[in-house]
Amino acid sequence: MEIAITTFKGLEQVLADELKVLGAKDIAIGVRAVTCFGDKELLYRANYELRTALRVLIPFHQFIARDIDTLYQKIRAYNFSHYLRPDDTFAIDVVAHSEYFTHSQFVIHKIKDGIVDRMRAVFGVRPSIDTENPDFRLNVRITGDMVTLSADSSGDSLHKRGYRTKTVSAPMSEVLAAGLVFLSGWDRRSMFIDPMAGSGTIPIEAGMMAASIPPQFCRKRFAFHRWKNFDKHLWKKVVSEAVQKIKYDLPPIFASDKSRIAVDNIKTNMEKLPFRNGIITSHFDFFNVKQENATIIMNPPYDERMKVSDVYRFYEDIGTHLKHKCSGSDAWIFSSNAQAMKYIGLKPLKKHILFNGPLECRFNGYRLFSGSLKETKQNKLQE
Ligand SMILES: C[S@@+](CC[C@H](N)C(=O)[O-])C[C@H]1O[C@@H](n2cnc3c(N)ncnc32)[C@H](O)[C@@H]1O
Repeated sequence: MEIAITTFKGLEQVLADELKVLGAKDIAIGVRAVTCFGDKELLYRANYELRTALRVLIPFHQFIARDIDTLYQKIRAYNFSHYLRPDDTFAIDVVAHSEYFTHSQFVIHKIKDGIVDRMRAVFGVRPSIDTENPDFRLNVRITGDMVTLSADSSGDSLHKRGYRTKTVSAPMSEVLAAGLVFLSGWDRRSMFIDPMAGSGTIPIEAGMMAASIPPQFCRKRFAFHRWKNFDKHLWKKVVSEAVQKIKYDLPPIFASDKSRIAVDNIKTNMEKLPFRNGIITSHFDFFNVKQENATIIMNPPYDERMKVSDVYRFYEDIGTHLKHKCSGSDAWIFSSNAQAMKYIGLKPLKKHILFNGPLECRFNGYRLFSGSLKETKQNKLQE
């Protein structure tokens, strides 16, 4: 069957690489989504093991519509009984990138009417809406005039892993954090530091990757559990095979923040995860501590609302600290403030553009040489 997996714009290649490892066939990269072919086992593994997936969908019908009446008629003409019985509950999610359909709530309303009107005409009863825990979650993606209907096998978005119970302001999506760790190329063995860790999302995702803890280790509910064809034995096999790969011991991973509440939150957020030695948390100011010979990923505050009086000066200070106190490290900065990023004042070795929803963000990597760049190049030549 065809499986379509959604992600953040900019993480499609990372997601495709993850899918390859799972053994998916005919992988094709789209925008905010990757498609592939596989069986029910792949569907379950995709939900349980992919770190950069937001939703795992099974597309089942496609048609063209340019106005709301055509959309309604096409939905009404489709026989949903393979997925939905009249006494079931259902929910509808709409993602529209279309000049023809600009009002998502109205689109949802008309799609619901189309389904309900047909069911009532055929069976005399109608399924009801349950947005929290429905029997069937319909995903409708509209790109231009192309409407794709898919069964959503995940339910809640897969960034809701179940471990993060406490957050600071502006917490990062777990899916995005995992994507950043992949993009940084961290080897999962050497030292890793997030010196502005907030609720700890980046170092916790790094720790889960290093210890091979499945991203959904703590999550109990997936939409496909309620499907008529749910194979409980296959699901148990998928979970137990993934759990057997957990390594428990971690390389040195440090998470610190200048806010004590943030540090307490990181500790709480780790509690449900099976880390034996845990991520090392500390309460200090980034500017007071050296961070040498490590992979550093940080997501600094990006505007004045986040208690930084002068954002440009703050980014300039980050650049200076990295240059003088973090030699031998690879430092990565994630920020939605493109202007502030220019104040880092270091030449990035790698640059990525990612979208956090509609928000364009930069993820730049800097190599911080020990000694001067000239000396390092000479040392390398002599090796
Ligand atoms: C955007 S938040 C990080 C969010 C984090 N990625 C998460 O997922 O929760 C920025 C964090 O940087 C911290 N911070 C700001 N200035 C700092 C400094 N000088 N030293 C250490 N932490 C700092 C703030 O306390 C805040 O928790």
